[in-house]
Amino acid sequence: MIANPVIIAAVLLLVQPGAVAFKIVSRSSISHIEITSSAILQTTAKVCKARAEQQGQNFVEPNPLNAISLAVACSSPLSAGTFLLSTGIISARNIYVDIKRFGEEEYHFDSESFLRGRDVITSAVDAVKANIKLQNFQTARERLGEAMHTLQDFYSHSNWIELGYQSPYTNLIKPDLPIENIADKGTPTCRSCVDDNCTGNILESIITERKLTSGYTSSSGLFKPPGKCSHGGLIDLTSFQEPKGGINKDGVDSEHGHLHFQAANMAIEATKELLEDVWASAGNDDFLRLMGISQTFNVLSVVIDISRSMADNIAEVKRVISLIIDGKKGTADEPSEYILVTFNDLDFGPLTKTTDAEEFKRLLNAISAVGEATATAKKCLSGLWLALTRSPPKSEMFVFTDAEPEDVELKNTVLALIESTKSTVNFLLTNVLSAQSRVSNPSNQIYQELAEASGGQAIEVSSGMLPQATSIIEDSSSAALVTLFLAVRNQSTAEDFSFLVDSSVTNLTIYITGFSTNFTITSPSGMSQSSTESNGTLGMIQTAGNFLTIRPYSQNGTGLWQISVNSTQPFTVKVTGQSVTNFLFDVVEVVQDPVPGYTVLDSRPQNSGNVTLLLSVTGDDSLKLTEVAAIETMGTETVNGSLVDQGNGQYLATFSTVPRGSFGIRVSGQNSSTRSSQTGFQRYSSTQLRTSGVSVSAVASGIWAPGGTLSLNFGVGTSKFSGSFNITVRNDRLFNMAFPSSLLIDNGVSASGALSITAPFETPSGTDVTLTIEAAAAGGSDSNYVVLRLSVVAGVGPAVSLSLSLWFVMIALFLNQLLSF
Ligand SMILES: *[C@@H]1O[C@H](CO)[C@@H](O)[C@H](O)[C@H]1NC(C)=O
Ligand SMILES: *[C@@H]1O[C@H](CO)[C@@H](O)[C@H](O)[C@H]1NC(C)=O
Ligand SMILES: *[C@@H]1O[C@H](CO)[C@@H](O)[C@H](O)[C@H]1NC(C)=O
Ligand SMILES: *[C@@H]1O[C@H](CO)[C@@H](O)[C@H](O)[C@H]1NC(C)=O
Ligand SMILES: *[C@@H]1O[C@H](CO)[C@@H](O)[C@H](O)[C@H]1NC(C)=O
Ligand SMILES: *[C@@H]1O[C@H](CO)[C@@H](O)[C@H](O)[C@H]1NC(C)=O
Ligand SMILES: *[C@@H]1O[C@H](CO)[C@@H](O)[C@H](O)[C@H]1NC(C)=O
Ligand SMILES: *[C@@H]1O[C@H](CO)[C@@H](O)[C@H](O)[C@H]1NC(C)=O
Ligand SMILES: *[C@@H]1O[C@H](CO)[C@@H](O)[C@H](O)[C@H]1NC(C)=O
Ligand SMILES: *[C@@H]1O[C@H](CO)[C@@H](O)[C@H](O)[C@H]1NC(C)=O
Ligand SMILES: *[C@@H]1O[C@H](CO)[C@@H](O)[C@H](O)[C@H]1NC(C)=O
Repeated sequence: MIANPVIIAAVLLLVQPGAVAFKIVSRSSISHIEITSSAILQTTAKVCKARAEQQGQNFVEPNPLNAISLAVACSSPLSAGTFLLSTGIISARNIYVDIKRFGEEEYHFDSESFLRGRDVITSAVDAVKANIKLQNFQTARERLGEAMHTLQDFYSHSNWIELGYQSPYTNLIKPDLPIENIADKGTPTCRSCVDDNCTGNILESIITERKLTSGYTSSSGLFKPPGKCSHGGLIDLTSFQEPKGGINKDGVDSEHGHLHFQAANMAIEATKELLEDVWASAGNDDFLRLMGISQTFNVLSVVIDISRSMADNIAEVKRVISLIIDGKKGTADEPSEYILVTFNDLDFGPLTKTTDAEEFKRLLNAISAVGEATATAKKCLSGLWLALTRSPPKSEMFVFTDAEPEDVELKNTVLALIESTKSTVNFLLTNVLSAQSRVSNPSNQIYQELAEASGGQAIEVSSGMLPQATSIIEDSSSAALVTLFLAVRNQSTAEDFSFLVDSSVTNLTIYITGFSTNFTITSPSGMSQSSTESNGTLGMIQTAGNFLTIRPYSQNGTGLWQISVNSTQPFTVKVTGQSVTNFLFDVVEVVQDPVPGYTVLDSRPQNSGNVTLLLSVTGDDSLKLTEVAAIETMGTETVNGSLVDQGNGQYLATFSTVPRGSFGIRVSGQNSSTRSSQTGFQRYSSTQLRTSGVSVSAVASGIWAPGGTLSLNFGVGTSKFSGSFNITVRNDRLFNMAFPSSLLIDNGVSASGALSITAPFETPSGTDVTLTIEAAAAGGSDSNYVVLRLSVVAGVGPAVSLSLSLWFVMIALFLNQLLSF
């Protein structure tokens, strides 16, 4: 699309700061995030209570009620992090509707769009229930957040509160109940406010006849029908037309701000009703899993090469994994879900998922080797792609193979999914050049890159040593795993590293991956051990191929550790431990328009302009972050970010610049509950990020019916390149799609393309589809992507068209401009 300066100017005029919904961030008013998290906490507490009573246990509702205290009361203290993560995803999708569906009245109950607004809610709720039935929790969380936004807006934008109702309008979540007594288009509803006083601007006849109305806004048309109320606020040009003023209750400073707290509290009650409706359909266990709370919650995800060349290894993998599963049974580390994907030299899949350990062992034992006996290239990335699309965020994955990938074209798609799910991928590669070899097999380069991007390791071992290397699976599939340090060096170097261990850390483990790597480790108390001492003062050094593991004997490891490495080969150093103290992060897009706030970015951040992260600290309430830094993955460049405390353990971290290439995040903080000197803690992200000079955007709260075609537009923007961009689109269900294979950007700004995807008639209701849209600049020198999760739901109508409105495209362009200064 051509960026027309006149239209840009018009957009600039329209998108002045102003509220169009409950605020996204606010100190004095109640925001969408607060409404959402309050309703989730209260309903989840109710479900925990019901489950406890069903199991004959006692449940005491914690006071204060927060993610940490509720996880503890719900007998699942280690799920505080995943509970927070799930609430965060739901809230982020709630906000997404404000920012990405700005101006689409039915998503906000603006302009008396009650019937269409109700349809937005009920079709999203249908999707939530259907997605849960098929255990597609991640997609269910997104649809739930979208449904909540529209529902909450009703209480701010309509006159429900002014009509004097004391409880939520239940019919909004019940498709079979009528929405009655809506003021028709010709009925006047408001008079002008007197000066700035809008109290009493709704006509008495509307109140006495209990007619339902809502404010009109200029985002869906410059003029409103005669006599109608407006939404109000500077952003809404209709509020300057007769009858002047507005009726929204978004904040205390809104036209009907005197009713803000009543509206927000009713929105909380309505959101609780919505959650209880989902609970009734899902049952206790699935509802708690949706919220990230379960007895145990870590997922064991295994992607295994079943080519004939792997026959011996497969037997070993079966044996080792069965042992690990048995070892974790009944402990807090017992996986809550098992995922298995197979691939060989010709094919990949299927993916099987189960929550039952015995069933998983049966599935694993049923695997037999097929195909070529020689180790030819494999469909490894396809198998990994499938596992990444169906695993929860932050999964630990283990890939077993003995040959290079045949499907290298999937590398960028796999990278996109690693970055967006923040999963960690470890490769166990049995193609060492020879037992004595001291160099890495060049065929494994892509695996190394993917492992590095995810904070995982590419372990190269001979088949005989595989059992020694699989300890990584046992260590990593722990509910409380934290990363204390991570560095990757891609060439020979001698370098000193240090890392901080705090008193909450147990099971400290140091991994060094690399051939010909000499090192000396020094503990805080000054004891040291070199790589040549396999049994030394600090601990045993276990070696399997290029993979070395040290588990210090002493539990007195608190303080600063040092590792001096001297290596003639590339290497990685990774230090992990177990602790309840950890941090979660999302890359967010900060926007001032159309509403001030932020939304989680589903693509790489831009390499010019600020990079902003939303950080959440998990653990106890006494933890305060003091520093955040972006650290070059393969070098020493460190950039400090600035932290702004958002309350509730959340911080916004802003970096005016970040390292070129890939980088990780390090946070440092203090434990304010103790005053001794050793209260500092430090954590690293395992996922490595990178920025891009290309932007890719698309909007979809995509719900469509089996047999239907979903259409959506996507935009590619750049301030750095011009010319042709190769477009690659993939969906994990292999549904038919149509899209342009390239887009030409000749104006130096952006272009947009149309995409359609068709679900076959036989698609089960509740199926989710992970769609990645990638755009690569000439020669593949730079690329970006957007990841979307869509839901196929029976009975929602043949297809929902998701074409972007002109306004949205223009606002997106405008924001891209802003963000790429
Ligand atoms: C606003 O108007 C209402 C009546 O319409 C009146 O009761 C109220 O006192 C006025 N408020 C102010 C601050 O003038
Ligand atoms: C190592 O990584 C750095 C930074 O990413 C890069 O500039 C350099 O070319 C790489 N060196 C090798 C030998 O791959
Ligand atoms: C913070 O201090 C409390 C109380 O001393 C302790 O239980 C907790 O483990 C500490 N957390 C960290 C990260 O050191
Ligand atoms: C952590 O350490 C404890 C005691 O040192 C041990 O019992 C436990 O098995 C370890 N956990 C893991 C996952 O290694
Ligand atoms: C524990 O480490 C500290 C220094 O970090 C040292 O002073 C102390 O003696 C050590 N205690 C034991 C029992 O090793
Ligand atoms: C390691 O060394 C200690 C004492 O130095 C000894 O007691 C222990 O048996 C050794 N362990 C192994 C596995 O050799
Ligand atoms: C690293 O090892 C090489 C040869 O093994 C040696 O020449 C060099 O001095 C070492 N560097 C450091 C910093 O120890
Ligand atoms: C590592 O140590 C071994 C044995 O001590 C030695 O032969 C080798 O040269 C060292 N390599 C480096 C890079 O220092
Ligand atoms: C970047 O962040 C700083 C402070 O956090 C802010 O002042 C500045 O306006 C931001 N720049 C852009 C381009 O958003
Ligand atoms: C980052 O902050 C730390 C601690 O405040 C400081 O020591 C360091 O010098 C800073 N680094 C840069 C590059 O500003
Ligand atoms: C697009 O892909 C084709 C074939 O896959 C390749 O030849 C061409 O160089 C690529 N173009 C760009 C701009 O990367």
